[in-house]
Amino acid sequence: MGKAYANKRSVENRPIGDLYHTPKSLVWELLKKEKLIEPVWECACGEGAITDVLSDNSISYKASDISSGINFLEIPNDFKWNGTIFTNPPFTYWDEFVVKAKHLTTKNIIMLGRVTYFGTQSRYNHNIWEGLKKVYMFTRYVDYQTPKRNDGLFHVGSLCTGWFLFDMDYTGEPTIGWINVEEYAKLGNYDNKKCRECKESVLKYINHNNFMECPNCGVLYDPLNKEYIDRDS
Ligand SMILES: C[S@@+](CC[C@H](N)C(=O)[O-])C[C@H]1O[C@@H](n2cnc3c(N)ncnc32)[C@H](O)[C@@H]1O
Repeated sequence: MGKAYANKRSVENRPIGDLYHTPKSLVWELLKKEKLIEPVWECACGEGAITDVLSDNSISYKASDISSGINFLEIPNDFKWNGTIFTNPPFTYWDEFVVKAKHLTTKNIIMLGRVTYFGTQSRYNHNIWEGLKKVYMFTRYVDYQTPKRNDGLFHVGSLCTGWFLFDMDYTGEPTIGWINVEEYAKLGNYDNKKCRECKESVLKYINHNNFMECPNCGVLYDPLNKEYIDRDS
């Protein structure tokens, strides 16, 4: 399972380990709707976008990631976690993360995922949806290439995603809710913003988390205010 639904971006164009940051706003808004069963385990924590918010809300958690030596998929199934497993996993291994988390937790799982996953026959056949209690869909398509930012804003992209909540004691049908993220979708599209100076170079995030930069001439662009930054001012 998993590989068949792999991320369609070519491997060379994806960050190492598929490190994409969850916009903090997606976690802020989830916490307004759901009280998490503690302790929480962020098992693919990356640079801590989710755990930053847990910490700010005094929620007890443990964090691990393959980049710091803990491969979640290799944890023995007899290890038990009496709390919530909460992550935005690499989408390439989404099914494997759900299956492993179901082995390990006795309580709840919260995974960020693509809503299109529902339309896959083999997921249905393999009972991936067993225990799924609720899905909170985000009201805007999030581009997860957005760098880690403290204001929760994100670029809009082409993926319809949401939080998938599994409860190990739940046997009913899942329900759908929405998380309104309109106020955070302020950075425009991520891809293909051409440099005003070079015309052909595409702006990227290089050294500035909140500003895009031209890899060719170094011009800076602020996607929030949709303006170029004059370095001399
Ligand atoms: C999409 S990023 C999300 C990072 C973080 N959860 C967040 O929300 O910002 C996926 C993360 O999964 C980690 N990862 C990939 N395979 C893993 C594995 N088998 N076990 C643990 N972490 C893994 C990557 O290193 C990366 O940090």
